[in-house]
Amino acid sequence: MNAKQMAGYEAAKYVKDGMLVGIGTGSTAYYLIEKLGQRMKEEGLHIQCVSTSDASTEQAKSLGIPLLDTNDAPVLDICIDGVDEVDPAFNGIKGGGGALFREKIVAMSAKYNIWICDDSKRVETIGAFGLPIEVLPFGYKHVVRKLEEAGFTSRLRMKDGAIYETNNHNYILDTGYTNTRFGTDYKAMEAFVSGLLGVLETGFFLNTTDLIISAGENGVTTIENKNKA
Ligand code: 5RP
Repeated sequence: MNAKQMAGYEAAKYVKDGMLVGIGTGSTAYYLIEKLGQRMKEEGLHIQCVSTSDASTEQAKSLGIPLLDTNDAPVLDICIDGVDEVDPAFNGIKGGGGALFREKIVAMSAKYNIWICDDSKRVETIGAFGLPIEVLPFGYKHVVRKLEEAGFTSRLRMKDGAIYETNNHNYILDTGYTNTRFGTDYKAMEAFVSGLLGVLETGFFLNTTDLIISAGENGVTTIENKNKA
């Protein structure tokens, strides 16, 4: 089993009969969804899920996992999702798969959040991955200008030679924030970016998870967040 599979399968154990479950997006969440489908078939597990992306929706449907619209399930028992970078203070970055807005809505709806990852995602200081920002296409260059004035670097995400569009039909700016005037004050940085006209959401998930399940050469590690905001 690879590390992402180990983390995804371990997280599936936290899902209990009757739960409303937020399912994340990405190559680690893939294994979570796979295992949930397997548990439904083998153990008769009954759950209903809210998905964070079209890709996860398709996978869940293919496994017969019942899905609800987020507006029909505003409170979830648990949400399990991947993460791109996380530091020891549980400051997380998400959005590598472009699903950050839906992921944040679903995460904020859940009573308990778990992030699943391979050990490489756990870093001393976040920054190398950058910060994905979902922006409305209309006037996105206004956001670029404001970000650059504040010291961010900014690159419009592309895919197969075309501008990448999120499931919400927006764009993603992949930004670098290690040389901004905010230093490592991520809360201030998040407030600044979120306040820019045209920004839908940022990939900062600051102290929003209850548990990290990480896997690697030494097996599975679980890290509980005792100081969740
Ligand atoms: C998608 C995400 C993913 O959870 C994140 O990119 C991690 O992905 P992976 O499990 O493939 O490494 O935030 O928007």
